Amino acid sequence: PGAKLYSANCQSCHQATGQGIPGAFPPLTHLDKVVQAKGGREYLIRVVLYGLQGPLTVEGKTYNGVMPPFRQLKDEEVANLLNHVLATFAKSKAKPITAQEVKAQRAKPLSPQEVLKSRPPVK
Ligand code: HEM
Repeated sequence: PGAKLYSANCQSCHQATGQGIPGAFPPLTHLDKVVQAKGGREYLIRVVLYGLQGPLTVEGKTYNGVMPPFRQLKDEEVANLLNHVLATFAKSKAKPITAQEVKAQRAKPLSPQEVLKSRPPVK
């Protein structure tokens, strides 16, 4: 169920392969490291709900862009989308993100800059 949501909402920037565009849109292939880090699950949910802004280094490349928020997606859609990205592009075996976890982050709105500050320290 996440594949359609990905192509409709994310693929234009992060590309069909999840490899992004160097210098413009970061890849999503490293996200197993992020999801496994302390606070990483919450961070990924926040990025989708609230967007992201500011300098970010991913796999040695710096991005200083803006990702828009996707508050319009339902809790279950955010969970399905992230689980698709994690399993498909990041080959992650982390336990799936649940709609309950999304709901908990939706109750705590953040700015895109605050979302960046909550990123776990992963290169
Ligand atoms: C960053 C996922 C849609 C542009 C990120 C990150 C994630 C992500 C997880 C952070 C990576 C990290 O911290 O290592 C998604 C998902 C999307 C989506 C699941 C669909 C809901 C988009 C779209 C755009 C975009 C449509 C372009 C309009 C960006 C940019 C960054 C980013 C520019 C880096 C922001 C910065 O420089 O601070 N995305 N993204 N994303 N995304 Fe997306």
